[in-house]
Amino acid sequence: MLKYLVAYASETGNTKKVAEEIYNAIPDSRKEIINVRSFVGLHEAENYFIGYWANFGTCSMEIIDLLSSLHGKNVAIFGTCSLGNTETYYKKLELAATTWLPDDNTVLGSYFCQGRMPIEFRQKYESCRGKCSDEQLKMVIEAYDNAKTHPDRQDLLKANVFTSEIIKKIEASKND
Ligand SMILES: Cc1cc2nc3c(=O)[nH]c(=O)nc-3n(C[C@H](O)[C@H](O)[C@H](O)COP(=O)(O)O)c2cc1C
Repeated sequence: MLKYLVAYASETGNTKKVAEEIYNAIPDSRKEIINVRSFVGLHEAENYFIGYWANFGTCSMEIIDLLSSLHGKNVAIFGTCSLGNTETYYKKLELAATTWLPDDNTVLGSYFCQGRMPIEFRQKYESCRGKCSDEQLKMVIEAYDNAKTHPDRQDLLKANVFTSEIIKKIEASKND
């Protein structure tokens, strides 16, 4: 059995970048990284880092299927999103994933950062000018602009630190 599995969903590459940073920060050769689309249940591990991109505030069916299938595992959640760069929003995204985990797993923590959206989204927002409320439009355009350089080096560094903290928790739990 693997010691660590990093499994992620990523449509445009942001979450993949964070997943690769997490994978590289794991100081153990008994590890694998996999796009959840290729997951066929043959990658059992003791510890999981599971990543997703926020899609209307939640995760994809593949991530839900993986989370729901786990029993007796240590699980850390990570992901990217473009809105609400706040701890409160990130906590909601953590919950959107952990809610699918059976109770016999241990949630070790989560890490989220912003991820850029494709330029077509900004163009789509711009084309709404005059058709939807100015305030709403300002909000989504600001969110788009704030996210457009992410994940950046700082986000990846934080993902690296997050990984070390999770591994420390795993090691500490063995000594309990
Ligand atoms: C259809 C769609 C829905 C989205 N829904 C949300 C959302 O609910 N909350 C949010 O913060 N970002 C949302 N985003 C932005 C993405 O989560 C963000 O760009 C993410 O970094 C994409 O990750 P990826 O490159 O790994 O696919 C959405 C993007 C798309 C295309």
